[in-house]
Amino acid sequence: MLEILEVDSEPPLCVGLTYNLKKPSVPGVAQDDQAEYDSMGTVLAIKAALEQLPCRVTLIEADESLPDKLIANKPDIVFNIAEGRNGRGREAQVPAMLSFLGIPFTGSDETTLCVCLDKALAKKLVAREGIKTPRFRVIGSGSADKGRVGFPAIVKPNAEGSSKGISNMAVVRDASSLRALLRRNLALYGQEMLVEQYIPGREFTVGMLGNGRDIRVFEPMEIVYLNQNSPDRIYSFEVKQNYQKLIRYDCPADIPASLRQKIAGTALKIFTLLGCRDFGRVDFRLSPAGELYFIEINPLPGLAPGYSDYPMLAAFDGLSYETLVQGVLRSALKRLGLRPAAEV
Ligand SMILES: Nc1ncnc2c1ncn2[C@@H]1O[C@H](COP(=O)(O)OP(=O)(O)O)[C@@H](O)[C@H]1O
Ligand SMILES: [Mg+2]
Repeated sequence: MLEILEVDSEPPLCVGLTYNLKKPSVPGVAQDDQAEYDSMGTVLAIKAALEQLPCRVTLIEADESLPDKLIANKPDIVFNIAEGRNGRGREAQVPAMLSFLGIPFTGSDETTLCVCLDKALAKKLVAREGIKTPRFRVIGSGSADKGRVGFPAIVKPNAEGSSKGISNMAVVRDASSLRALLRRNLALYGQEMLVEQYIPGREFTVGMLGNGRDIRVFEPMEIVYLNQNSPDRIYSFEVKQNYQKLIRYDCPADIPASLRQKIAGTALKIFTLLGCRDFGRVDFRLSPAGELYFIEINPLPGLAPGYSDYPMLAAFDGLSYETLVQGVLRSALKRLGLRPAAEV
């Protein structure tokens, strides 16, 4: 009897969980230096969610020995949250390695991750499809490209996330403050800066889960800034650190159905045109004149339980953290034709 059971039952799916952990802060380094990386708490929460399926989950830190670890113990699929190390294409480093080794993985592929982490590049592709995005210029340490942005403008590193490099001083109103901020940021962040038309007004973020016809677009969430007297309302690093006091999350956002449809439809169009897969999150601003502006897309949105926006969006739509994480894996498996979702 035991023998028959062993022959009949499939072995559990082996999932490798790739990640980069936050390192202890170093004196003299910017406070937001480690902002994009994950805590062990997030890694363990994802592991626990996947093990409920059930799956066998192996933790794989994405360090220099990653190729050796993957070759020695090849998983059936990788659940990837690794941000990578160094450079504009860092989010693509682990997916590129997985593609090289022929290991399937969750989330967008390396090309999409590269394009989306470069905010200016993603904006150019989105603008070509007639979707509004704030006017911008990319400024490097040596040269500046052409184009008029005007004031007020917001200055942010071109290839970051988690509000890294976006302090409460990021909005400038004249040329001398712009020059001073650029000088400071170019030295501090060692990468090109995006100078962008500042869009006052309301802010929304939208999450997506799945692919093709099975895609689910979560209700748009509004980030409401509580200090209405502050001149600039931005989701800065300081605001994210102190979100309980400074902002309120309204989900579903208090907007008419037509605007809701416009935001959700535009988010889906952007997700699709940039070739995103399985999950993602898009940020928008709505100008006082009612024009919707694409700010950025996150094909690898943070999954920190109780902190990141993406699990919050899912929770407002009735999805527990565990169901969301399992949903990302199920979407990838279905897309890959690896195992019917119901059997996982
Ligand atoms: N062009 C803009 N106009 C107004 N606010 C902006 C603009 N760009 C960014 N912001 C503000 O800064 C925040 C962080 O910018 P974003 O590009 O989303 O960076 P990150 O990748 O760090 O989330 C946004 O959520 C928004 O509040
Ligand atoms: Mg953002």
